[in-house]
Amino acid sequence: MPEGVDQFYHLRNTTVSLVVDCRGSQPAIAYFGTKLANVSESMIEHLDRHEAPASLPGEPAITLSPTHGMGYLGCPGLAVRRGRQQWQISPQLVACETSELELRFISLCERLSIEITHCLRLDGETGVLALTTTLKNADPTTPLSVDQCLITVPIQDHLSEACELTGRWGYELQQNRFQLPNSSLVRENRAGRTSHHRHPSLRLLSENTTLGSGDALDIQIAWSGNHTIRVEQLADGRRVMQAGELLEVGELELGPGGYYTSPECLLCFSDNGSNGLSQWWHRFIRKACGGHFGSAYGNPDTIQVDTVNSQTVHCDTIHDGASDGAISVSSQETRPVQLNTWEACYFDVNEATVLELIDEAADLGIERFVLDDGWFRGRNNDRTSLGDWQVDEGKFPSGLSPVAAYCHERGLEFGLWVEPEMVSADSDLYRAHPDWVLGFSNGPLIEARNQLVLDLSREEVTEYLFESISALMDEISISYVKWDMNRDIHQMENAGGHRAVHRQTTALYALMARVRDRFPHVAIESCASGGGRVDMGVLRYASRFWPSDTNDALDRIAVQRGFLSILPPELMGSHVGPSPCHLTGRQHTMNLRAGVALWGHMGVEADIRALNKADRLTLEAAISLHKQHRHLLHSGRYVEHEQSAQQVAWSVVSDDQGEALSAVAMLHTPTTAFPKRMRFRGLDGSKQYQVQVVWPQDLSEKQADFRERLKSQCFGGDWLQQAGLALPIMQPESMLIFHLAVVKHS
Ligand code: GLA
Repeated sequence: MPEGVDQFYHLRNTTVSLVVDCRGSQPAIAYFGTKLANVSESMIEHLDRHEAPASLPGEPAITLSPTHGMGYLGCPGLAVRRGRQQWQISPQLVACETSELELRFISLCERLSIEITHCLRLDGETGVLALTTTLKNADPTTPLSVDQCLITVPIQDHLSEACELTGRWGYELQQNRFQLPNSSLVRENRAGRTSHHRHPSLRLLSENTTLGSGDALDIQIAWSGNHTIRVEQLADGRRVMQAGELLEVGELELGPGGYYTSPECLLCFSDNGSNGLSQWWHRFIRKACGGHFGSAYGNPDTIQVDTVNSQTVHCDTIHDGASDGAISVSSQETRPVQLNTWEACYFDVNEATVLELIDEAADLGIERFVLDDGWFRGRNNDRTSLGDWQVDEGKFPSGLSPVAAYCHERGLEFGLWVEPEMVSADSDLYRAHPDWVLGFSNGPLIEARNQLVLDLSREEVTEYLFESISALMDEISISYVKWDMNRDIHQMENAGGHRAVHRQTTALYALMARVRDRFPHVAIESCASGGGRVDMGVLRYASRFWPSDTNDALDRIAVQRGFLSILPPELMGSHVGPSPCHLTGRQHTMNLRAGVALWGHMGVEADIRALNKADRLTLEAAISLHKQHRHLLHSGRYVEHEQSAQQVAWSVVSDDQGEALSAVAMLHTPTTAFPKRMRFRGLDGSKQYQVQVVWPQDLSEKQADFRERLKSQCFGGDWLQQAGLALPIMQPESMLIFHLAVVKHS
């Protein structure tokens, strides 16, 4: 044990404990879970087991970065090499720097000249623990290849089930719960962006964990490139979880003195089931949004140039709370209801149409107008013009400034869609710089959605993009940018012949940071063909996500539940789409479409000029209901209720439990005459509540009677949660929204 390093460390906040065992050569997490009163060395020693047959005399520790040389036979947390040699890393812990909520372990592998820093930072109030690993190549002459750098965490035996967020374009963030295998679960994303299919998160649960009770552990990787999450059962029965950036062989090489910090892995523990986890995440993110995100996150903007092969190497250094890592300011403000032109007119935008839409939007109470794709030179379809970020003069002869000015005149903000990372083969930019794209020297370029990916690791490319975006923002009064990215990166080779996803991702972050810092008043939305870039990494630059291109209200309920399991409602773009839905062809009433959309950062994405009178009135009422309650929706505690295949329900409850908005949705044709009772969640059992039906406005006769009867009755919070509220008959694909307020006795 080196001098100055203790046998173990115990960090805790009001809710969780972290115990790190330092008896071996490397730090290992001994425990992360419900807060413990005290821990002793001998208690930790009792976790050690006797020798198993045909095994090592002592079980190898599951350290933060285990390797084979240490006796560990699972997947190595760390894989490095110099050429084909020097891969047997054997680090020794040499120092530990501690503060109340942070541990920094420094280890050295003298033979290989590598320094490793493991940083573990516990949030002050929630169950969130942030972990990073920094590798430094301390050799003065030889480069070091990094093939793998995964944070490794032991998993307690009772966490035997997993729930992943998976899906596809138009149906993202679907929750899928399953039993963990006795072998390995490997979730790898090679899409070059966060992906629709494999969200960089995983939830582990015990068999008995429910929405409201039992142990639950989440991991989220704050990264928008390729990633790996593995859960492996070792031969001795122990389970480990590993997570980090997925590095292809040769992708990351550190020059002499160069270093790499892994993307932050955020663990979150709750013993209050899945709802407990969601509430921790929401609180953690809100705190980060409202204060110094950088104090919870590494500084992503420090880019170090590796002198060996001119790769830029991502190197998060520990941040002192300055503004670099701060989330966009607008996340703290009231979020304006917006109109987006995409499903209203697709590429067919022009000044006359847009001015009409602005008028209609203003009349409906909409507060921001977002001009989606189709506004720039020659962009009449998705086969052309990406990269030519100048306003199309045919469509907007006087440019977009008068459009923005008209928005302001009608009381709306103005926002614009861009897709900076892409170029169309049919564009002036590509004709001038065909060498600016990522490709594959051994075959033809693959186009997806008729577009190619710009190589952001070239300085001239990001310079061009920054200048183009700045020129637009300098000229036009813009308060919001929808930053899109509409294809996977299949061919990841850059001009130097290197694999590019790592550098592409860090260069994207650097570009977004530049834009954010130059235009701090502009909110950025992260979109990638819908929900292809919803992650904690891009959240340093963006303050809204577009979770899915589907506006189908039923599918949206499922997408939104997945989203809200890890991210708060105010970050969730949710739009009222047209009927029939353009993606699914399904028809839904305006009551359902608007009733579902009002739970996030609400918007409308339909041709509002074509609405019939009844739908227009309904939409106007929904917007007004959203505005009336958006403070609650964007600050309260989200909680899901018990559910069945047909019926789902959820609430957002104010922090003081004085108020709540609750919804119940009948997804399919009910198999029984009546819905299940609504057993509310999150209320104060000792208080009396007045319950009102606030949506929809036009109810069936029986439902209207039900609404009337509720008016004269107060309910105990305990009654509402235990006995529940009997519901009136509901049609399939319909919903009811309740407002609950504590009755104040004078
Ligand atoms: C992506 C987005 C859509 C829309 C289109 C425009 O598909 O997800 O919302 O912006 O691009 O081309």
